[in-house]
Amino acid sequence: MSKPARTTEDDNHAVGRKSPAEMADRSTPLMRNHWYVAAWAEEVTRTPLRRQILGDDIVLYRTEAGQAVALHNRCAHRSFPLSRGILKGDRIVCAYHGIEFNPDGSCGWVPSLQSAPRAMRVPSYPLVEQGPFVWIWMGNPDKPDNDKLVQQPWFTGPDWNHVTGYCHMKANYLGLHENLLDLSHFPFVHGAAVGKAEHAEARPKVRVEGNVVHASVLHRDVVLAPEYAAATALVAPVDRLSEQQVPSPAIHVGKAILTDSSDPPQTHLRYIVHCPTPETQTSTHYFWAIARNHALGNERVDAESRAFGAKAFNEDREVLEAIEELVARDGRDDFREKIIRTDEGAILLLRAFARMAAEEAAAHPGTY
Ligand code: FES
Ligand SMILES: [Fe+2]
Repeated sequence: MSKPARTTEDDNHAVGRKSPAEMADRSTPLMRNHWYVAAWAEEVTRTPLRRQILGDDIVLYRTEAGQAVALHNRCAHRSFPLSRGILKGDRIVCAYHGIEFNPDGSCGWVPSLQSAPRAMRVPSYPLVEQGPFVWIWMGNPDKPDNDKLVQQPWFTGPDWNHVTGYCHMKANYLGLHENLLDLSHFPFVHGAAVGKAEHAEARPKVRVEGNVVHASVLHRDVVLAPEYAAATALVAPVDRLSEQQVPSPAIHVGKAILTDSSDPPQTHLRYIVHCPTPETQTSTHYFWAIARNHALGNERVDAESRAFGAKAFNEDREVLEAIEELVARDGRDDFREKIIRTDEGAILLLRAFARMAAEEAAAHPGTY
């Protein structure tokens, strides 16, 4: 596979002349010391669910008391998928020789031995549920870092409504992060409904604090979807301040502050949260959710939000899959992607991710 490294060739537009080694790319190891979205809460039930995350095959289920459980999906005996087993109380029972495993991965019972050997166990993964999200810690299971879990009261508080969506992308997750920080593709990929011509030229203010990338941009006189405009009674013209924050490889938080022209002005908040969970180096679970603090209980606005997300994010998926496919098949190793000034946020992000990956590798040499 040719490596799509980057070069900067025009100093007027360059963010800086840096070597590709300083930016994360497809060769950067997936980062484990983060909380990733494993599933929607409603997907985790009393029927085992199989999901691949950062290459690990994982089975998710709930105990009788409703606690979510994640175990390595590979039976410790002969590697049969535990997801094809059944639940017996809080235990999952392998459908090959009937070995039972507890929610912590320890063995509960081996029928042929009539005992539960301590050596017979499968790895378990820490989980945290937060509103519609089930977050999984992919690092050392004995040391989950709860400070890295992004608190999102807009998905749990009573004064908010949200909708959720998912799509599977046959593409590396970094392309999605870059795409989310890049407004310049809007009119070309998403058409007139989302992208006005100014988006192509908009240059968000970007900055990085530690390894957290922030971007913001103000759009004046935005066009609202008809359903949304009718339900919210916002008075045109409406300004939208978009603030984005990428605190980890697992989450991109977008906040939109809409201010209308009534007197006094009405202000509405929307959070558009994107959670790329790498499935492998070349495929990604794309979980997204949109929360709002207005039009509460309005199902038409829910439907509009869902339709907006499903359409726009599917359009992004098509672009990113086309790139992934081409990168995999093209044989020219001398190819280097070029950078233009609207890539500033993405470059800061790829550098931050490269630093995070290097820090992780230094802290856990050879652990994973
Ligand atoms: S493979 Fe699971 S019990 Fe034998
Ligand atoms: Fe997009």
